[in-house]
Amino acid sequence: MTTDLKEQKQTADTASITFNGKSVSLPVVRGTEAETAIDIEKLRSSTGLITIDPGYGNTGSCKSAITFIDGEKGILRYRGYPIEELAAKSTFLEVAWLLIHGELPTKDELGGFTKDVTIHTMLHQDFGRFFDALPKDAHPMPVCAAAVGALATYYQKPESDQQAHDTIIRLIAKMPTIAAYSYKHSIGQPFIYPQNRLGYTENFLNMMFSVPCDTYEVDPVLARTVDLLLILHADHEQNCSTSTVRMVGSSMANLYASIAAGISALWGPLHGGANQQVIEMLERIAAEEGSADRFLAKAKDKNDTARLMGFGHRVYKSYDPRAAILKKACNQVIERVGVSSRLLEIAMNLEEIALKDDYFVSRKLYPNVDFYSGVIYQALGIPVNMFTVMFTLGRLPGWIAQWLEMRRDKDFRISRPRQIYVGSPKRPYVPLAARG
Ligand code: ACO
Repeated sequence: MTTDLKEQKQTADTASITFNGKSVSLPVVRGTEAETAIDIEKLRSSTGLITIDPGYGNTGSCKSAITFIDGEKGILRYRGYPIEELAAKSTFLEVAWLLIHGELPTKDELGGFTKDVTIHTMLHQDFGRFFDALPKDAHPMPVCAAAVGALATYYQKPESDQQAHDTIIRLIAKMPTIAAYSYKHSIGQPFIYPQNRLGYTENFLNMMFSVPCDTYEVDPVLARTVDLLLILHADHEQNCSTSTVRMVGSSMANLYASIAAGISALWGPLHGGANQQVIEMLERIAAEEGSADRFLAKAKDKNDTARLMGFGHRVYKSYDPRAAILKKACNQVIERVGVSSRLLEIAMNLEEIALKDDYFVSRKLYPNVDFYSGVIYQALGIPVNMFTVMFTLGRLPGWIAQWLEMRRDKDFRISRPRQIYVGSPKRPYVPLAARG
């Protein structure tokens, strides 16, 4: 099955560019929600010009039918369904199916998918040696990236993009096992095998927190909270890690390699790593007796590298709808597990002050998904260095859906941006002896 994304949403409108006396009329495309773009594919061949847009803030890299975001209005929808409805009524596996297949699953489809995922959670026994080879204090994110890349060495039979079914099931099934093993490895505890009697998030929590010498009962409320967190992170259109997955996949690299690259991109503190930075920031403020004002002054000071972590977003210029859902969930979880809400209080205080401060207001900086997710993870007992791994678990179906959409597009080409060269002009080689 291939789709023709290129011809979709073509309009009769055009935009003209005149350069050096030559004019070119460029097609205009319009999306479902009236987002409008100039198609510059013919710009260079007609005028010799390319465009330059550092950080791609104004560049649409593809047409996509998966996720819609309106950053000005704080809207997020997967395949047309509002995130608020999915968060309240759906489950992570249902959302994963929706993202990958484009429609909500029927009962039979969801049952079959859940069964397939449940029976593929084990890792090859030899995989234990892979974990043994890594240092004990390794951060779980590079461990997960390496482990997902290593899956490609166990499943080498090339699959066509149309039949990526087995790879998709393996990835979704084994990712929680890899994540929990990376944690158990870092604390020197024995690995806990997956249990087919448990649901997706229950199984993950069991592998994380169960120990062979004691019993561990998964709290259904906490399992549902993890499910909610995964739903909220499941896709976010062309962000840094998703663009990385598409970029790597565009070279015809396999899905394991593409997802491993996405995990590495997600690790960075300006992307998925921000949730870890938020908790570290809140703990620093707590240690300094809660001076939110002092921290905000540092975050606003251009000579200081501090930023208010968990605030600001390339796309959202109003409240991130995921942060609004998580803020509500925070109180419930903290009440359930009976931990101190000190960090939540500091976070809410920071938010309140920042949202009245002209620096943040004028730059349209609001809490993003990471601002409250870290507080919940901490209340759930998830260690700080696993926060970004939780994000990885959630984002996996989105990466898969985006990779498939790109590879099934009948016009897909390898991603290869251009540049404006600003280095030295041509110069002759100087022999070493003459260089002093
Ligand atoms: N604290 C203080 N100032 C900020 C912050 C912040 N968190 N975010 C942006 N600004 C300021 C910038 O200094 C800049 O100010 P200037 O115009 O005076 O130079 C202005 O706001 C615009 O910021 P940019 O960095 O240009 O915005 P960009 O879209 O490139 O970056 C980003 C977005 C990376 C998310 C940024 O807001 C940030 O660093 N936030 C903190 C990290 C974070 O929370 N990341 C998670 C993002 S969500 C996710 O990936 C899941």
